[in-house]
Amino acid sequence: METSFATRAGLFCAGTAMLVGCAPGAVEDTSTATAAVTSPGHLAGISDADFIVARDNFALEETIDDGVGPVFNETACGHCHTNGALGGAGEQIERRYGAVVNGQFSSLSSSGGSLRQLQTAGHFMNGTQSCNVPLEVEPSGTTVHNVGRLTTPLFGLGLIDAMPDSFFIALAAAEPAAVRGTVKMAAVLLPNPADASQDLSTVRVARFGWKADISNLPTFAADAYKNEMGITTQHCFRGQSITAFSTESAPNGVPMPLGCDDLAPPAPDGVPPGTDDAVGICAPDQTELQEDIQNFITFMTFLAPLPRDQGDVPAITAGARLFNTVGCNGCHTTTTFRTPNPAPNGVPGGFAFNPFSDFLVHDMGSLGDMIGNDGDSVATTRLMRTAPLWGIRFRNHLLHDGRTPDIATAVRAHDGQGRTSALAFGALNANDQHNIVAFVRSM
Ligand code: HEC
Ligand code: HEC
Repeated sequence: METSFATRAGLFCAGTAMLVGCAPGAVEDTSTATAAVTSPGHLAGISDADFIVARDNFALEETIDDGVGPVFNETACGHCHTNGALGGAGEQIERRYGAVVNGQFSSLSSSGGSLRQLQTAGHFMNGTQSCNVPLEVEPSGTTVHNVGRLTTPLFGLGLIDAMPDSFFIALAAAEPAAVRGTVKMAAVLLPNPADASQDLSTVRVARFGWKADISNLPTFAADAYKNEMGITTQHCFRGQSITAFSTESAPNGVPMPLGCDDLAPPAPDGVPPGTDDAVGICAPDQTELQEDIQNFITFMTFLAPLPRDQGDVPAITAGARLFNTVGCNGCHTTTTFRTPNPAPNGVPGGFAFNPFSDFLVHDMGSLGDMIGNDGDSVATTRLMRTAPLWGIRFRNHLLHDGRTPDIATAVRAHDGQGRTSALAFGALNANDQHNIVAFVRSM
């Protein structure tokens, strides 16, 4: 797929006419920033050829013989992450459910929750064995119904993955108390071998996903391979076998008999049955991630952010000022991020960029999706990660459930900690609102 965006001029804070939205004093050296992104749309630190191998794996369609199933949402990462370029946001809006029991969220895990996969391997023959995988339904007892979750874009996420916890913690501390975000921590289930600071069960600021549930890109990749595509994996890290992603999803909680999860070859000895793609028994000190997962990590780590579009300078300049006046920057921070130098995961060090999110979760009141983890209070289920606004002009669905294509409508839906700012936006005249939207559209 052609990813020409990154070759166009104009990156984030680069260039004088493009300073809107950047923190004061965040003047970037255009030449450095531009040189850090090369065609075909990747950051420096990887060859074109290696990036293309990883990208092709991300786009590759898998089949039931590769392990797709028993239930799944799609057959390629690249089938969902499509908008703007491969890796973008998507059209797919997934479905989740849950229940509130005695004031606590339950994912109804014994009935397969909270993700309701939308496809099934269905009826198939494995040799002489007749298999039939049911389609998932919302189980009885569900009280939080059919919640949409839109596919998010992946551009630039390697830069986010490179940021130290201390950066996000400092962002939270600097936010006005009324809108201050909550730092969410999560275990690293799959450490990034490139990042020496990560070990099994290192706890890290969870920065990925609509609800900031996941702490690094490797964990997200293995989780998505299993939950979106039904492909389970096993890995070796410093001699230890990682089996957190080895168990197939059970449709509505009913595990399929061995051989009826899909038609992948059996797992090698010493690896849990049901694992579709395995490294095998781990030698002492062996570190090796399963190959597809490693490719997804590589693709996402080096996938460049999209350049900004600064077409309408007067509107954007006015909008940038108003964005701060009405308090959007309380959460969609205009603080410039800068990767550590050297960056732990191999992306360019000292790279400045503006994702317009604090990657913290906020109580969004009625906009919260009411989905959580087992035992969460109802208040916790309203917590949503500030949606990063970079690349938003390539999007056609907004908010966690994709309910609107329209920026102003998305703003008006902000509630809870976002309510004051949304009301301030609504109180502006049409021209000022237009300018804020123009500024957001420039990102
Ligand atoms: C069926 C569609 C679908 C497929 C297939 C899919 N994704 Fe996603 N992806 C989504 C959705 C929906 C989200 C938002 C999930 C959430 O926040 O709970 C998402 C979010 C992500 C994120 C988090 C981005 C962020 O904003 O923090 C990463 C990383 C990701 N996907 C990687 C992958 C990889 C790697 C694959 C292939 C193994 C993949 N996805 C396959 C739909 C899909
Ligand atoms: C209290 C924190 C907070 C404030 C203040 C805030 N936002 Fe948001 N914003 C969020 C969160 C959280 C989301 C994701 C909500 C969801 O879909 O669940 C979001 C989503 C959005 C989206 C949709 C993005 C997407 O990827 O779908 C836009 C556009 C947006 N905000 C613009 C603004 C603007 C403009 C302002 C100022 C008028 C503003 N926001 C103020 C937290 C905030």
